[in-house]
Amino acid sequence: MACNKLLGFSFCFHILFLILLLISSSLLPTTIAKGFSIQEATVYDLQLAFQRNLLTSRQLVEFYHKQIQTQNPVLRGVLELNPDALAQADKADQERKAKAPSSLSTLHGIPILVKDNIATKDKMNTTAGSFALLGSVVPRDAGVITRLRKAGAIILGKATLSEWSHYRSNDAPSGWNGRGGQGKNPYTMDDPCGSSSGSAISVAANLAALSLGSETDGSILCPSDYNSVVGIKPTVGLTSRAGVVPITPRQDTIGPICRTVSDAALVLETIAGIDINDKATIKASKYVPRGGYAQFLKKDGLRGKRLGVVRIFYSVFGNDTFKRDTFEMHLKTLRQKGAVLVDNLAIDNLQEIFKDQSENIAIAYEFKLSLNAYLRDLVASPVRSLADVIAFNNKHPKLEKLKEYGQDLMLIAQKTKGVRELREAVLDMARLSHIGFEKLMITNKLDAVVVPLSFFNSILARGGYPAVTVPAGYSKGAPFGIIFGGLKGSEPKLIEIAYSFEQATMIRKPPPLRKL
Ligand SMILES: *[C@@H]1O[C@H](CO)[C@@H](O)[C@H](O)[C@H]1NC(C)=O
Ligand SMILES: *[C@@H]1O[C@H](CO)[C@@H](O)[C@H](O)[C@H]1NC(C)=O
Repeated sequence: MACNKLLGFSFCFHILFLILLLISSSLLPTTIAKGFSIQEATVYDLQLAFQRNLLTSRQLVEFYHKQIQTQNPVLRGVLELNPDALAQADKADQERKAKAPSSLSTLHGIPILVKDNIATKDKMNTTAGSFALLGSVVPRDAGVITRLRKAGAIILGKATLSEWSHYRSNDAPSGWNGRGGQGKNPYTMDDPCGSSSGSAISVAANLAALSLGSETDGSILCPSDYNSVVGIKPTVGLTSRAGVVPITPRQDTIGPICRTVSDAALVLETIAGIDINDKATIKASKYVPRGGYAQFLKKDGLRGKRLGVVRIFYSVFGNDTFKRDTFEMHLKTLRQKGAVLVDNLAIDNLQEIFKDQSENIAIAYEFKLSLNAYLRDLVASPVRSLADVIAFNNKHPKLEKLKEYGQDLMLIAQKTKGVRELREAVLDMARLSHIGFEKLMITNKLDAVVVPLSFFNSILARGGYPAVTVPAGYSKGAPFGIIFGGLKGSEPKLIEIAYSFEQATMIRKPPPLRKL
């Protein structure tokens, strides 16, 4: 290793990438040739550095440990570190040295942080940020963790989140949880959005190479948007929810939050597919493309794509003319890259959807049923039902700042009974999706709709539709993203579109260093 320990990691990494750049710039992927700093290295960059013996997984884990040590006291993106991460890194380094077949996997030896609602059967806790689940013992790894481990990824730690994925109280601020406190957006030192706040904060600030989040309604897209990173919200069922503290299996989906579309696509292809512990993955497996998602990382991916522009969602800009102008510029770029923009579209029943309460009603029922099932399945736990969680919160007001933030959503869920109202609400949502978003997509032959962060989240959520968000700009220092959403199983097209847009614009910039 050509790297003196005394130099400190970041300096050292700059040197080795400079060397890398000088010796073989013609052979390298454009990301490095364009002068990517180590802080922003992609999976492809890291694998190349591994292959050239310029970097080990141990050094990578130690680098992230140092980043976390410096910045996490301020940012609070990481809740727990995996005590076995260095051992996993050493194992990866040995396998690579021995040219073991396992070391050929793209995520082999790459550290990933996972949201704290995703179960890991190891020395870490899985608590959804709540003290109520501290000390609980999960029966097995979550389905997505099994796939990550099989691919040789290193589980670096658990990311903070809005407690219970923001299904505790409407009053609780985004990014807050009892165990980890308040997560901070590294760009604004303010709202990181949630509920996968820690995942987005951490990859944005280079505390981890990659991360996983989960979304029920906005929880991947919004924090990715706010923290200037790429989020993929997969079609519901494309990735297993088994072993994930749930809100509702009808809407929950696990997806990557990373700095680039290519990294997110590589994580998605690793975690997508059938898991016998989540039946929805069987039906959705028809959407998983043979050969994975990396094949859709095409620079000309926008050519011939039909993109719908639904102007009502652009009203979220209000009087922010900078954002408005930036989006108009992006629409122009999309056109220049070969997309056909179908402008001034409307969703027929949008007013009805705005007013519709069926999502709130259904989730209240489903949260109680699915959380109770998750808690019953634990090997050991201080709480075994939603009622127990509510009682715990009542008993430990100081511990969880109950007085400040309450638990109104949990109390509403606990009161639900029977299935009639739930069934009606679910049918209602399916009908509204069918005559709304699906009709828009089909009658206009769209590949995707392109929108800013808006109520559109909720349309995607109700129908189980996928979306990708990509950094789109900074308004007075605050990041914002651009969202491409489509019909179920349209991830290949969305990745083509998102990658092509990202490569044409390259907007993401790392945040300033945040330390005490
Ligand atoms: C899990 O929680 C226990 C109890 O608070 C704590 O002692 C332990 O350090 C936690 N595990 C990790 C990996 O942080
Ligand atoms: C936008 O309008 C709000 C009040 O509605 C005002 O406080 C704010 O300064 C305005 N922003 C700009 C950029 O004009």
